[in-house]
Amino acid sequence: MCGIIGIVGTKPVAERLIESLKRLEYRGYDSAGIAAQVNGVLERRRAPGKLRELEAVLAAHPLNATTGIGHTRWATHGAPTEANAHPHIAGRVAVVHNGIIENFAELKAELQAAGRVFESQTDTEVVAHLLDQALSTGLEPLEAFEATLKRLSGAFALCVLISGEDDVILAARNGPPLAVGYGQGEMFIGSDGLALGPFTNRVSYLEDGDHVIATHDRARIFNASGTEVVREIKTVPASAVLMEKGNYRHFMEKEIHDQPEGCQRTIAAYVDTLTGRATIAGVDFSTLERIQIVACGTSYIAGMIGRYLIEQLADLPVDVEIASEFRYRQPALRPGALAIAMSQSGETADTLAAFRHCAAAGMKTAAIVNATESTIAREADVVWPIHCGPEIGVASTKAFTAQVSVMIAIAIAAARDRNRIDAAEEQRLVRVLIEAPRLIAEAINLEGSIKDIAVEIAKARDVLFLGRGPMSALALEGALKLKEISYIHAEGYAAGELKHGPIALVDEATPIIILAPYDSWFEKSASNMSEVMARGGQVVFITDPDGAKHAPAGARVVVTAPASDPLVSALVMSAPIQLLAYHVAVVKGADVDQPRNLAKSVTVE
Ligand code: F6R
Repeated sequence: MCGIIGIVGTKPVAERLIESLKRLEYRGYDSAGIAAQVNGVLERRRAPGKLRELEAVLAAHPLNATTGIGHTRWATHGAPTEANAHPHIAGRVAVVHNGIIENFAELKAELQAAGRVFESQTDTEVVAHLLDQALSTGLEPLEAFEATLKRLSGAFALCVLISGEDDVILAARNGPPLAVGYGQGEMFIGSDGLALGPFTNRVSYLEDGDHVIATHDRARIFNASGTEVVREIKTVPASAVLMEKGNYRHFMEKEIHDQPEGCQRTIAAYVDTLTGRATIAGVDFSTLERIQIVACGTSYIAGMIGRYLIEQLADLPVDVEIASEFRYRQPALRPGALAIAMSQSGETADTLAAFRHCAAAGMKTAAIVNATESTIAREADVVWPIHCGPEIGVASTKAFTAQVSVMIAIAIAAARDRNRIDAAEEQRLVRVLIEAPRLIAEAINLEGSIKDIAVEIAKARDVLFLGRGPMSALALEGALKLKEISYIHAEGYAAGELKHGPIALVDEATPIIILAPYDSWFEKSASNMSEVMARGGQVVFITDPDGAKHAPAGARVVVTAPASDPLVSALVMSAPIQLLAYHVAVVKGADVDQPRNLAKSVTVE
């Protein structure tokens, strides 16, 4: 989603704004812009498309200033044109915005009736006009900003410049996150710690409802009721702001390769290697009646895999639901259940809303997040972080396997707490989990052969992924990864559903990718493979050494992943499908890290 940066600085600001916007690119955007005070006058540069377009505009028309604001826009209201790109200027005010002003239509009508002329189709422009109108009544900047905020409804993060108010930035948070960075005689506002990374590691995270006025040497923060407050200044570790691709072409490629380490760090946080116990703090699973997982996209699929494992090992009922559906129906919630929000970013609007819905019903809440300063993390009763480091590629990879790692540890802990396994079995399962990163690394070594398959798959118009048990969830993930970065239409199905519809898609031109380790579902998956091949289907069979031995003859390609215990096979089988999607996208020349129309953190519903 949109990215925001604001700098009250002492050095030339344009380059710094661009540097920071580059670090926000990962969130997804389709236009960008900056504005600054040049001799007391607001000037801006904007461009549709990528940041290089904005850099070209700046090269032709430099902006010489030390204080400014910048924005990457992911279009919601109005196409990604220059006129709709932020910052929006009205009179003395320039504003950048992330989120949606829900009452913008009525505000716009009111402002137009008062003679104000709008240049864009965005919801954001009303903020610039409202604030300019308030300033024109003689209010001081902070008062005018507060009056403006009172008129807005919806979820928003804002950052504002006012002409004639040199070296002042105003900002507000109502929903999407915003952080304040503290420098030496300089202050920064940014969507996240990554955006502030080049300038400072001293950061305060604004609470919902906060607004702030930042000058060279201080930031005054006010809460929703207007009381001045102190927000803790945290030191952001260097590892949290590192954004290097190393020798990899894309962040996604690097992040796929990061997985053994990311999972290892995550697993280490949830097992005690000495005692062989799973250590999930904050919840006693023995008394739980149910678990309700809410999530979106890939995080939802990680939850589905968790459901298989927790129900099977711990005999504890688990519901997993897409957050955007959950929040708008009337689910029958009971206080005896645990709500788990699964979210890499911890900011996904639908997941947050569904999570709040559970909390309001009196359920205990837990968050499995990568961003530990995120809204979901801060609102949860218990936080179970994944420890895979920042994920920059829009397509989630290492966060997914880290989430699944936590789910496995939860399944083991719950099985123990509910007396479904004895100490020896717990130790065995923990050992299996600890071994998983090595197997993931071996699976990543299949990259050479997967690259070859990708050349063929890249020619397809449609691809079908099939699997049973946890592999049916992974089939969804395989299809999601492929479609989002290569734009090839792909469907994931539980293989048992094949005969209930998808088999009609089978022809020589549609590759069918079957995920089938040699487990209790193998025979049935192998039968599905035969059914597909009998109809001319071209099968890519992703299995393990025993599965390769027992596979029916005739698969176009067999990919042999390392043998693994069913507890961790979803972790091990993830790498082949991620690599496949990645290499297909590379063959097709797609923008792997920033696929069209997608945003990394979906902070609007
Ligand atoms: C797909 C992907 C998305 C996210 C989804 C939820 O590769 O990355 O489907 O999984 O937008 O995001 P988080 O986990 O941040 O809530």
